[in-house]
Amino acid sequence: LRLGVLVSGRGTNLQSIINSIEADRLNAKIEIIISDNLDAKALERAKKHGIKGVSIIPGDFNSKQEYEEKMITILEEHGVELVAMAGFITILSSHFIEYYRNRLMNIHPSLLPAFPGLDAQRQAFKHGVKVTGCTVHFAYEGMDTGPIILQEAVQVLEDDTVASLSRRILAEEHQIYPKAIQLFADRRLKVEGRKVEIL
Ligand code: GRF
Repeated sequence: LRLGVLVSGRGTNLQSIINSIEADRLNAKIEIIISDNLDAKALERAKKHGIKGVSIIPGDFNSKQEYEEKMITILEEHGVELVAMAGFITILSSHFIEYYRNRLMNIHPSLLPAFPGLDAQRQAFKHGVKVTGCTVHFAYEGMDTGPIILQEAVQVLEDDTVASLSRRILAEEHQIYPKAIQLFADRRLKVEGRKVEIL
């Protein structure tokens, strides 16, 4: 599977994808990593593993459309079949989203549709839920929406802080994202309306 990964920051989910590939648990190749941020630690990780990484900064373009066209051009040049957002902050428009319909994945640190948006772990903590978790889904238009592929639940413990809870959620993210990508690579994900059937 020819993979493109979109990143903005520390890149631990990117790292889990790289590790899964290097350990032969994930049958994919990262053709290109695109960051919307020059300083993303994720770009250092790319370099360390000999993967091509580029920064494409939304602010350098006259419009969102131009920015997204540039992204699409680069992804196409690299023959990317699946685009995985891994901590990618820029909100993509329907133009990009439709182009990659059911070929664009995202990971989110809550059990969607609960707690979309920023700081999902804090939102869950503040809400007092007893169980939260993480979700891999196909990205549709609208913040953290689209057919759900995999989820993992995480208990909120009596003595948790936002930080400790986030750490345990992140550990589960690192498990389910490579798994979801492998299911895609194996053509086992069938989207039926709002639902994903795992074949
Ligand atoms: C993760 O919690 C992910 O679910 C969310 O952004 C964070 C990215 O972390 N979308 P990292 O850059 O993968 O370490």
